[in-house]
Amino acid sequence: MRTFQHFLYALLLFSVIQACSPQQSVDREAVKNELASREIKRISQSERMEKGLEMGKQIAAAAQQALQKNLKGAIDKGGMEYALTYCNQHALFLVKELEDSLSVDIMRVSQKFRNPKDEPDSLENLILDAYQYSLDNGLTVEPAIMEDGKEVLLFTQPILISNTLCLTCHGAIGTDISEENYDTILGYYPKDSATGYAMGQLRGMWAIRIPTKTIVNSL
Ligand code: HEC
Repeated sequence: MRTFQHFLYALLLFSVIQACSPQQSVDREAVKNELASREIKRISQSERMEKGLEMGKQIAAAAQQALQKNLKGAIDKGGMEYALTYCNQHALFLVKELEDSLSVDIMRVSQKFRNPKDEPDSLENLILDAYQYSLDNGLTVEPAIMEDGKEVLLFTQPILISNTLCLTCHGAIGTDISEENYDTILGYYPKDSATGYAMGQLRGMWAIRIPTKTIVNSL
């Protein structure tokens, strides 16, 4: 009996030592945490990208609508001069509002830009090249989402000359754009290179930067 009790104590003591052995418990905890964090990271990474793509599409659609709606109205109402000033101020103000309310950065970039602030950076240039390559080779061009640094996703969506309205300001000078109207354009954008486009061509792309915080908050 006594020996059995000793044996039990010894066994208990042994298992306590085992359970309390710092090495082992730390390892177990570490593995458990590592697995859990991998799980969270993996899921949230793909969820973040998916959500970013979805948000980007919605933002681009809203911004596009604001710009186009105002553009048509503006040209009808007051001609080129009015459209240019109106486009510059009111439509861009609407986009700014969208940016502020969602904490995102909304840009349209183009390799043949009219406004110098729409000049693409090196990453955007690569993506524009890829869109151009796809178009030249009869492939479809799709919105895309990728990481741009640690905390930001970059959403891109090609902008095509999809409407003859675009040619009024981005087509051939002298035919699509009257000389007089082009003078007006040059008055506002002396370094303009956003002309000579035809229907279906790649005009540029939306480049919308969404902080991961904005995405996580919306999940
Ligand atoms: C009334 C003239 C006018 C019409 C019509 C017009 N645009 Fe523009 N577009 C401009 C002006 C002006 C800018 C520069 C805006 C700024 O200062 O940010 C511009 C800028 C752009 C940009 C940003 C890159 C750059 O060159 O600075 C894109 C992309 C663009 N237009 C696409 C289009 C498309 C697509 C259409 C047809 C749906 C269109 N535009 C119709 C006048 C026009």
